[in-house]
Amino acid sequence: MFDLAPKPGDLDPIETASRDEIAALQLDRLRWSLRHAYENVAHYRKSFDEAGVHPDDLKTLADLGRFPFTHKQTLRDNYPFGMYAVPREQVARVHASSGTTGKPTVVGYTRNDIKTWATVMARSLRAAGARPGMICHVAYGYGLFTGGLGAHYGAEELGMTVVPISGGMTERQVSLIEDFRPDVIMVTPSYMLAILDEYRARGIDPRETSLKVGVFGAEPWTNAMRQEIETAFDMHAVDIYGLSEVMGPGVANECVETKDGLHIWEDHFYPEIIDPVTGEVLPDGEMGELVFTSLTKEAMPVIRYRTRDLTRLLPGTARSMRRMEKVTGRSDDMMILRGVNVFPTQIEEQLLRVEGLAPHYQVELTRSGRMDEMTVHVEALPTHADDAQRAASAAELRTHIKNVIGISTRIAVSDPGVLERSMGKAKRVIDNRPKA
Ligand code: DLL
Repeated sequence: MFDLAPKPGDLDPIETASRDEIAALQLDRLRWSLRHAYENVAHYRKSFDEAGVHPDDLKTLADLGRFPFTHKQTLRDNYPFGMYAVPREQVARVHASSGTTGKPTVVGYTRNDIKTWATVMARSLRAAGARPGMICHVAYGYGLFTGGLGAHYGAEELGMTVVPISGGMTERQVSLIEDFRPDVIMVTPSYMLAILDEYRARGIDPRETSLKVGVFGAEPWTNAMRQEIETAFDMHAVDIYGLSEVMGPGVANECVETKDGLHIWEDHFYPEIIDPVTGEVLPDGEMGELVFTSLTKEAMPVIRYRTRDLTRLLPGTARSMRRMEKVTGRSDDMMILRGVNVFPTQIEEQLLRVEGLAPHYQVELTRSGRMDEMTVHVEALPTHADDAQRAASAAELRTHIKNVIGISTRIAVSDPGVLERSMGKAKRVIDNRPKA
């Protein structure tokens, strides 16, 4: 694989600043952001007043813990433009979440916000190993979803040549990768696997592509999946994290030289980890729910926004800014089977240990009597055609899941290509339990 580590002088000074410098900048910016939210957004004024706190009460970074949380529901209640801190005319762009349940969440950006976003996104790409002049194939969806346009502006800001193909039309994805010879691909990891299928279907060796690095995110994925994709394509696979409410892609990114979790761009986004039940702030290193406060956003500041993503904070390595461990999953995706908490990523890890099975999967929950049951739907590789081989792989997966996670599952192995492929975020859990 290519050596894509940055050269000295490639980085923004803040990326290697001391912790004291970072904290001083954060405190200044946090004071500004709290005041900006309080003075210009009715919701924040009301919620701070109700909690008996005022922006002037913030003397240290730890004082942030006294301010109230913001929930996704808060954004829904203020649909569409009620959370803006600037007159609507100053909002240069809106994005929105898909809104599969309830109203979508709408977010907004001033021109300055879009500039900031492009800067952190360019920094993310550089961390991933991208450089000016490289070709970037953007297969995140363009539109209200922040993935496509967020990636696009960042890649342009870095000085790359951008191919804005968006998601879908998998055959064309492969044709354009073959014709344009991009160095970098940006896409969800699950859709990268659909692209891999297409390579194999055409009989083209994916290890011969021009791709040097993939910047994969928008959904949870494991280090086992990283290995799978890196081996299949002979390329680097790095993780990118973000969410619309806080900005979009580029809130945090892994460095290609270490691949040890995602550095949070702490000069713009202040992270906390809390106990999801009590709301108590947890020390670095402990697992909990990630919470973000924006430090520089103008159009839609967010104060202590609860992401529902579970991870932990770790000290900086390749950069001074703290890292977040790869996200285990969203609290909404946690399944409880006979008292054991399970995330789809745990199933993914075990699946990728078994030979003869493809990396695609879906977990189905059903109920029999009072018991919840889990079926893991997987596919056999084309080379694994006979029933005895498939039964052996299923038994192996079942044993791994039982031994490592501690739950009993049913494994359903189907023919290659049967499971639904995602064009963006994969739907990992299908809940067929009767509604209470
Ligand atoms: O998914 C932004 C994005 C686009 C990130 C492209 C990276 C690449 P939303 O649609 O608002 O925004 O969804 C945000 O997706 O709270 C996480 O649950 C999940 N998510 C995003 N990145 C990762 C990741 C975009 N690297 C929600 N690992 C977040 C795990 C991720 N989950």
